Amino acid sequence: MPLIQIHGMIDPHTHLRDLDWANKATFASETQAAIAAGYWAVFDMPNTAPSTTDEVRLNDKLGRLDRDAHCDWGLYFGASQADNSDAYEKIASRVCGLKIYNNSTTGDLLIHRQSDRERHYRAWSANKLIAVHAEEETVRDILALVRKYRQPTHFLHISSAREIDLLTQAKEDGLPVTIGVCPHHLFLTEDDLATLGPYGLMKPPLKTKADQQALWQAISLGVVDIIESDHAPHTFAEKESDAPPYGVPGLDTTLPLMLRAVSDGRLSLEQAINMLSRNVQRIWRISPLPKTYTLVDTEYSYVVERKNLHTKCGWSPFEGLRVYGKIREVWIRGHLVFDGDNVLSSPGFGRNLFGLVA
Ligand code: DOR
Ligand code: ZN
Repeated sequence: MPLIQIHGMIDPHTHLRDLDWANKATFASETQAAIAAGYWAVFDMPNTAPSTTDEVRLNDKLGRLDRDAHCDWGLYFGASQADNSDAYEKIASRVCGLKIYNNSTTGDLLIHRQSDRERHYRAWSANKLIAVHAEEETVRDILALVRKYRQPTHFLHISSAREIDLLTQAKEDGLPVTIGVCPHHLFLTEDDLATLGPYGLMKPPLKTKADQQALWQAISLGVVDIIESDHAPHTFAEKESDAPPYGVPGLDTTLPLMLRAVSDGRLSLEQAINMLSRNVQRIWRISPLPKTYTLVDTEYSYVVERKNLHTKCGWSPFEGLRVYGKIREVWIRGHLVFDGDNVLSSPGFGRNLFGLVA
């Protein structure tokens, strides 16, 4: 059996829900899904209900994750339209970064005006990165702020040829930027919307085949730093409603899809592993922990079906796709937390990778 070891897989872009959205998913359910998918740690976005935009809410979330999480974790603080930057100094040591939403999506954290964005860039002096949701020409607006403030900035879910062009140039100019790409933009296009319907709606939306090719090319050239799932579970009922929310789950399928890409010869196994572990550790300045690794049988192949998913929402936009990789074991800090069938860690086993709970 061709078993490989991956040291410390991290998904730095997930929406674990819980709180007022526990009907969609919970910290307990999704951290277990993360472990079953091979992850050591997941970082949770701040567009929860309520959003993570002040210290009281942050402390509440930190406490709940400390109690409920099965894997290690990190939390983003959200920049808010009503300026909350006076909290930054106090909270920065406990979070994985600041998230700024610059285009609209699920939740109410959109910051539209460049002068408001700039206020957050000026105030965030922490030795931690800013992660941005910026689509198309908005990428250019954010790059102007990176050029001015030199704050390390991670561009989440990059999905188009235009965005890749802008960010490739920014990297060539020496700006401190990194790029994340999601599996749904690599394996689906707008042509799939006819069959997926609401299950293919997310932000940024699915793009053209040419955009998809630009992403694969950027991966093969080493321009893309990481693969992030943007795991965003919504219930069947919500997706079937008259106003389906944006977002698709992805934790279960990210590694299997990337191993499928390796099998198809789109990238090397080493490149795939780097984008799921080492590069994430480098960008978020996390030291890999001893005895923290995932054992994967890379030749095991299966078709994505609802019955082999662990996310609470119970569906995937990739159902019917053949993928590769069976997780045999997951170890965190010397503890076997997944044995190939069952998650073995208790709620509360997971630790915040970014400082102590207040
Ligand atoms: O499709 C999306 N869903 N994109 C986002 O940026 C947010 C996410 C969600 O929270 O559902
Ligand atoms: Zn997201």
